[in-house]
Amino acid sequence: MNALLKMLCVLAFISVFAAFAGEDDSGAAKAGEQIVTAICTRCHSTARICTNLGSDAPFWQAIAGKMKKNGAPLDEADVPVLVDYLAGLTAGSKPVCK
Ligand code: HEC
Repeated sequence: MNALLKMLCVLAFISVFAAFAGEDDSGAAKAGEQIVTAICTRCHSTARICTNLGSDAPFWQAIAGKMKKNGAPLDEADVPVLVDYLAGLTAGSKPVCK
């Protein structure tokens, strides 16, 4: 393989990797949003969540535990995704807030 070809392979690899990394971010945000719309609205509206936006990860971690006790069907794997998503939203963010 000549040097130029090797260089092209490396570049192709990097751009594919970058594309995946970018998708990962939006994927996580989408999943967090889906957990909220699929699970968190079963018992109450998102207004309860909206009023608490701007809180940090430990707050949402505690809420996730509390909602599990209330009967929310949250998987262990959903919790960090949900916590990351909600802790990353600023007060008033849509679609949690109307
Ligand atoms: C099984 C029913 C149920 C589900 C599902 C549910 N909740 Fe709740 N939630 C409640 C009840 C009941 C309350 C009020 C009593 C309480 O605070 O525990 C509440 C209250 C809240 C509050 C206010 C708590 C406070 O201390 O001010 C927040 C925030 C909240 N829920 C977030 C969520 C989130 C985020 C989800 C999705 C993971 C969710 N809830 C799913 C039943 C549920």
